[in-house]
Amino acid sequence: MVRSWLATAAAVAFAWTPVASAFKQGDSNGGDVIPGSFILQVDTTPSTLSKRGMSPFSALEHTLAAVADQGVPYTIRQRFDAVPEAFTGFSLQVGDDVGLDKLASIPGVQRVWPVRRLRLPKDVTTEDYQPVGDATSPAPMLRRGFLRGTRHAHTKRGTDFPPASAYAGDTFYPHIDTGIADLHNRGILGEGVKVGVIDSGVDYSNPILGGCFGPGCHISFGYDFAGDSFNGNNQPNPGPDPYASCTDHGTHVTGIVGALANPYGLSGAAPAATLGHYRVFGCTGDTADDLVLAALQRAHAVDNCDIINLSLGSAVGWLDNTAIQIYQDYLATVGVQVVASAGNDRVEGPFFSESPAAGLTTNAVGATDPVYLPAYYATVLGHPDVPYQAPMPLNVTGQRVLYFTSTNPNVTNDACSPLPASTPDLSDKVVVVKRGTCDFTVKLANVAKAGGRVVLVYNSQGSIVIPQLNVGTSGLQAVGSLRYEDGILLLSYYLQSVRGQVITFAPPAVKPLAPYITDNVSGGMMATYSSYGPTNDLYLFPSISAPGSSILSTVPGGLGIIRGTSMASPLVAGAYALLMSARKSDAMTPVQARALMMSTSVQVPSTFRGSTLDTVTLQGAGQINVQRAVDMRTLVSPPQLLLNDTAFFVPSHTVTLQNLESSSVTYTFSYQNARTIATYNNRYSQVLVSPVPNTISIGGPQVSFSQSKITLPAGGKAEVVVTFTAPRLAYPTIGLLPLYSGFVQINSTVAGSSSSNAYTIPYMGLAGKLSDMPVLDSTSTALGAAVPFIAAGQDIQSGPITYSLSGSQGPPICYFRLAGGTRRLSLDLVDAQYNWDATIPAVQNPAQRLAKRTISARASSGTQPFPERYADVPIIGVIDSPYYWPPRDYLFDGPNPYSDFEIVLNGTYKNSAGTVQQAPLGKTYKVLLRGQRITADPTLSASYDSWLSPPFTLNP
Ligand SMILES: *[C@@H]1O[C@H](CO)[C@@H](O)[C@H](O)[C@H]1NC(C)=O
Ligand SMILES: *[C@@H]1O[C@H](CO)[C@@H](O)[C@H](O)[C@H]1NC(C)=O
Ligand SMILES: *[C@@H]1O[C@H](CO)[C@@H](O)[C@H](O)[C@H]1NC(C)=O
Ligand SMILES: *[C@@H]1O[C@H](CO)[C@@H](O)[C@H](O)[C@H]1NC(C)=O
Repeated sequence: MVRSWLATAAAVAFAWTPVASAFKQGDSNGGDVIPGSFILQVDTTPSTLSKRGMSPFSALEHTLAAVADQGVPYTIRQRFDAVPEAFTGFSLQVGDDVGLDKLASIPGVQRVWPVRRLRLPKDVTTEDYQPVGDATSPAPMLRRGFLRGTRHAHTKRGTDFPPASAYAGDTFYPHIDTGIADLHNRGILGEGVKVGVIDSGVDYSNPILGGCFGPGCHISFGYDFAGDSFNGNNQPNPGPDPYASCTDHGTHVTGIVGALANPYGLSGAAPAATLGHYRVFGCTGDTADDLVLAALQRAHAVDNCDIINLSLGSAVGWLDNTAIQIYQDYLATVGVQVVASAGNDRVEGPFFSESPAAGLTTNAVGATDPVYLPAYYATVLGHPDVPYQAPMPLNVTGQRVLYFTSTNPNVTNDACSPLPASTPDLSDKVVVVKRGTCDFTVKLANVAKAGGRVVLVYNSQGSIVIPQLNVGTSGLQAVGSLRYEDGILLLSYYLQSVRGQVITFAPPAVKPLAPYITDNVSGGMMATYSSYGPTNDLYLFPSISAPGSSILSTVPGGLGIIRGTSMASPLVAGAYALLMSARKSDAMTPVQARALMMSTSVQVPSTFRGSTLDTVTLQGAGQINVQRAVDMRTLVSPPQLLLNDTAFFVPSHTVTLQNLESSSVTYTFSYQNARTIATYNNRYSQVLVSPVPNTISIGGPQVSFSQSKITLPAGGKAEVVVTFTAPRLAYPTIGLLPLYSGFVQINSTVAGSSSSNAYTIPYMGLAGKLSDMPVLDSTSTALGAAVPFIAAGQDIQSGPITYSLSGSQGPPICYFRLAGGTRRLSLDLVDAQYNWDATIPAVQNPAQRLAKRTISARASSGTQPFPERYADVPIIGVIDSPYYWPPRDYLFDGPNPYSDFEIVLNGTYKNSAGTVQQAPLGKTYKVLLRGQRITADPTLSASYDSWLSPPFTLNP
């Protein structure tokens, strides 16, 4: 029985009054899109072109003309016509009144996307110490001029570029962890491979990056798509030179790929590769995905890159929904390896994949903590060297005497107060201070006030990691940090010596960075910021990992330490350059090389040096080891086994082995389950486990093999069927939507050899149904009031109400959030007479004292089921329908820092023809919000999470 809202309202009118309640408001923006700008793909399918008698190029021109014919004023942002096989289209800036639907209906248009904002991954924090209480303006990364003798630009490759021997004996810690050092020692340096970095610009005047730009220089090609003033929202100012010194990111990423040999002990992964840089960020702000697409097009079509690195992205959730993803899949078919950072949003929990990293053939790179931390040595006369941490060797020449501000190793508040008047002249000493009690800045300031110039801070006992310290505004000349044990050692020397212990810093005694300090807390584990996958449709994400924390590389004017998946990605890009140059004769396709890199990765444990492997949704196939990829000669495919959820479970998979050894090889199959994580903390509740998902114990799947042992002759090929039995779970565990995973291990022994190698293939599945995953958030976690709701100003609607569009509060706004990604989301205007039984109750934010009555009133309000089919639900029109498949909303790392949808309700809607209409004012309406659950049948109403608002009257 249909009841009008008037009847309902009469019964409970006392309960339904607007509630004044403070809630947080963010940007009125449901996602990372740039208003008024769209990427249009022109239909160039051969049948369409032949029907229209056109080439891709003329189809593009015709489509542009058709846009003008529709009376849509536009400016062209970018053209995509250089590689018609990949993508033909353009991006446009249009007026605010032009919607995606309108552009999609223009003849010749195949697909339309809003231009998406892409960021340098958030939390790309320097690991410098940041003064407490000043988090908004962190101390600048330590960045100095080079020490004497290094300001020398290498200008001509082959003439004064460092020779291969300069890279032998590689002790750079990220290289030791990944097999890169072994290859450098063998002279494999990426020669003949072209690597393009798409990033924030590069300071190539840094001598470690060659000192110049253009043919013959180390950074030999590239382009600036952005210009300094571009911020993602304004007009880019392109030019031929990708130089930038106003940002660190691009210079750091470039150094990880290709830093030249230097006295500081670091180098790039592929220093002999041919390097280019495409700048897509200005000095501040974001970039736009049409610029990145233009950069990809140029890197391929103009510069013929073999490998492209993208340390940038934004949450997307799906594999197949951006123009960039389409382009990248094409690039893999023409020999281009694309590598991208997975994102630094681990805090957001699982199902938080990013574009451009998410892709069937793209390398989505997660970050690990390296086993070793960067350190230099101080020479102590008559004693062994002592390692200290700093992004560059301290700028201290000659010999200096030590001075301890306290000789008590148990002191807790060393140098927290001004140093006593009896303190000697400190200007020619190295002052050693213990960590503790007060802020580092206080200690440093006290030493500086007493005339100190050079300070080493040593750690507290039991605390292993000490921040990289920064001179900042202290007025000091140099600051470094020491481990506890090294501080104690120096103290003992100091106490033994009558005249004070003499310490020497380089140069000239620079001892290059070497792996003397082991990270005994998290070295070798996944980094605490590296994002979780999988994609919303249960594809692997990330695909692989590499060290990303505490990474020393080039910055404008010097060296600096930064962390992030942004740093892990270029290490993998460089590793591919080594693999390509070392195995040129195997002529592997990008897909084969990617499978090889994945199957020879080394698995990452879930606890420090533990035996349980971390979830595949965090590490992908594991941490790269490119020496294994170069030397191991069996091709294993596919690179991953995707088991899907319980509704679409894929139990059997065929694994192909191809033996490229010159002898026969015996393979033994086994498997190891990894850590299982809960998607939710409590039975389909939409609050993700925070800050990181709980490990849960569900026993994992059982795995069997059609043959557990097989011997292949040289050149032989075989298939083995791997069969999985999924864990069977009951409620309530199944409501946590557990993501289980593990690795098939294929141990191989070459005939006549005593050593064996292990190839691995990750597998992953969901022990539950994706279609049970909530799509609409119904909690108050983000905004402080349960969403969805309608509000005018700070007043959340809780019952029938009249809004005045011209009133001081302006039109009402509908607030909602996505707890899961969705392929269909709509906000519709409906007649107030409907009372459908939506999945989320209409009134979630009643006045506190009336909460109980409101609930009973709802129970007696006579709701009915929706019409069975989605399309049969009667609506007046669509208010908003972001059919670009929005991802799950941010809770922690987003713009506010949550993200949400805030849609203005002013009576405008689109009719079934896509034309904007104005609903009559003075009448009463409701809005209906529906989000399709993942994998559920889009044609059925039951497949949607839904919310039907309380009625509201719109007055002029
Ligand atoms: C090193 O310190 C001296 C002061 O002792 C200063 O003049 C010089 O510029 C510094 N060099 C660098 C590279 O920072
Ligand atoms: C520091 O503490 C340790 C144990 O707590 C003690 O053995 C040692 O004597 C103390 N040292 C000083 C100089 O007080
Ligand atoms: C899982 O199954 C769903 C439904 O068929 C499908 O859309 C999705 O692509 C599948 N995922 C994988 C990884 O095969
Ligand atoms: C395969 O090798 C790994 C180590 O390389 C070992 O832990 C595992 O037990 C081996 N599996 C079999 C079946 O031999």
